[in-house]
Amino acid sequence: MPSSDFDQLMMRRALDLARLGTGYVRPNPLVGCVITHEGRVIGEGWHRQYGGPHAEVNAVAAVTEQHLLPRSRVYVTLEPCAHFGKTPPCADLLVEKGVAEVVVCNLDPNPLVAGRGLHKLRDAGIQVETGVLEPEGRWLNRRFFTVQEKKRPYVVLKWAETADGYLAGPYHQPVAISGELARVAVHQWRADEHAILVGTRTALHDNPRLNVRAWPGPDPIRVVIDKNLSLPPTHHLFDQSQPTLVYTYRQRATTGNLGYITLREAEDLLPQMLQNLQQRQVQSVLVEGGPTVLNSLLKDGLWDEARVIRSPRRLGGGVAAPRLGLAGLHEQFRLGEDEVFVFRNE
Ligand SMILES: NC(=O)c1ccc[n+]([C@@H]2O[C@H](COP(=O)([O-])OP(=O)(O)OC[C@H]3O[C@@H](n4cnc5c(N)ncnc54)[C@H](OP(=O)(O)O)[C@@H]3O)[C@@H](O)[C@H]2O)c1
Repeated sequence: MPSSDFDQLMMRRALDLARLGTGYVRPNPLVGCVITHEGRVIGEGWHRQYGGPHAEVNAVAAVTEQHLLPRSRVYVTLEPCAHFGKTPPCADLLVEKGVAEVVVCNLDPNPLVAGRGLHKLRDAGIQVETGVLEPEGRWLNRRFFTVQEKKRPYVVLKWAETADGYLAGPYHQPVAISGELARVAVHQWRADEHAILVGTRTALHDNPRLNVRAWPGPDPIRVVIDKNLSLPPTHHLFDQSQPTLVYTYRQRATTGNLGYITLREAEDLLPQMLQNLQQRQVQSVLVEGGPTVLNSLLKDGLWDEARVIRSPRRLGGGVAAPRLGLAGLHEQFRLGEDEVFVFRNE
């Protein structure tokens, strides 16, 4: 049965609430919940913090007129959980409160939940509808679904290129390519992703900090490739200021925030690295270059989104940017003088 305009409006609100957990709930999914009674919102909540109460618990707690719950209609962006994790099952809570109807956006692909939450609700006589704004929910939780389905983190490629297709000047001279607005956007993107990756030469020549300064939000885990441990220990990446993982073929002991992971030299580095990141429950990686890393991921299809910032500047020569063509172009917008192209690997 097609969902009503009211159902869609309420689910959109629940998705907006879910989004507020970005950066704070991983590796859990983003979840929002709206509770209505006779067409009026009586409670709202979202999953705010990993390990904290789920969206349904917060929404139920926000209802001041608890006596209305037995005749309420609950909108939740993900199938209510049916297992004991860090908190008790949300399906049990909704059954205990005796809610009348539950409307769900996405089913939970987690084998511990998959379908069981819905069964619990239906067995208790609660009317259940599913699939309302399903594509919007999948997009919101694309990082979570990618980990569950592809067994690797969600990979976002990002680079800034000049109008004539260069990422840096000759001899790896770092040059400012994009403008101030794009710089702020990149800091927001850093805060949105769980980890941030650079190749050895970018780490060496640019000496990046890879933290979040121009936007409120958590710093990502820094990830760098350094096969032979040749990077200078005085570089910012090794300053212990935030969790940092070095993927290498050599052995070195982990100290404090600085972890060393030894990979097998006989196998491709990037798939091993992504697998290790997934084992560490890293949900997404923003790849900030350089072109060698970006081109490897593009060639192997190990990417989900690419965000290309094109500036009007010209360099006339230097380090060439990857070439993507127009296939998969999903969105295009301006940030000051720069043009941003967002591609999806579909
Ligand atoms: N404009 C931008 O958005 C932007 C962003 C980032 C970087 N840059 C520029 O890009 C330049 C650096 O780019 P780059 O391509 O020379 O270097 P890079 O991609 O940063 O690093 C390349 C090195 O990383 C290791 N590596 C990368 N991919 C690998 C793979 N698939 N398997 C194994 N090892 C891998 C290799 O290390 P080994 O050498 O040890 O084998 C390789 O030589 C710098 O000038 C930087 O300023 C520009």
